[in-house]
Amino acid sequence: MRTPSELMKPSSKLPRHLAVIMDGNGRWARQRFLPRVAGHRAGVDALHKIVKHAMKRGIEILTLFAFSSENWRRPSYEVSYLLDLFLNMLENETQKLHEQGIQLRIIGDCSQFNEKLQAQMAQAQDFTSRNKGLKLVIAANYGGQWDLTQAMRKIGEELERGTLSSANISAELINARLSLGDLPPPDLFIRTSGEQRISNFLLWDLAYTELYFTEVLWPDFNEVELDKALVFFSGRERRFGCTSEQLEESSYA
Ligand code: FPP
Repeated sequence: MRTPSELMKPSSKLPRHLAVIMDGNGRWARQRFLPRVAGHRAGVDALHKIVKHAMKRGIEILTLFAFSSENWRRPSYEVSYLLDLFLNMLENETQKLHEQGIQLRIIGDCSQFNEKLQAQMAQAQDFTSRNKGLKLVIAANYGGQWDLTQAMRKIGEELERGTLSSANISAELINARLSLGDLPPPDLFIRTSGEQRISNFLLWDLAYTELYFTEVLWPDFNEVELDKALVFFSGRERRFGCTSEQLEESSYA
């Protein structure tokens, strides 16, 4: 268990790990009498801006919800468009990510994607795996319930093999088997477009995360809007179950 002074690092006013639900592409397009997919296209431009600005601000990990396990329910042309967009980005931008020192990671059940996309995902992750800059995590066919389920399945297998006993199951052990188990949890979560839901994103990982909701639609989310969220974060007191007094004492320790 970490002590209050360990939790209150001087750098804690800037999120190390930022997680984002990029929502509102469809409404952005509808407001302009454009097809929904035009909103996704514009969403990619916003994504570029935010990746660049997050690096400029010194964020270490940026996790983006690109395609949820429920998004398969959308019209098939929209699903195909999103998957093509993903494939094109990987084909055209992996080299650029690499040049900027970005390490790409994809979390989710990728086995449901077509072989070409799966191969490109594996290639892009492998190509950037030794980079030391921003860790860019793309959640694709991801769901928080899926993540917990696959972790429980791993634990079940270890119990069956006899390499784990039930007495040793702890929060740390479960965490280590989740998709982001080797990374610190998100400090700040942003959802655009006015919806105030987690929508089966990082259910376990968001336990102590500061939540920021904005009415701005994702394609309009830019550097200024990200800075507003960072200002919001810098004003929050993160207590992790402690009291304000404990945190004040530990900041003088
Ligand atoms: C939610 O808006 C957005 C998505 C489901 C897809 C997000 C994708 C991108 C920003 C671009 C592609 C990114 C990658 C990595 C390929 P919505 O369609 O639910 O908007 P609405 O709620 O207004 O209908």
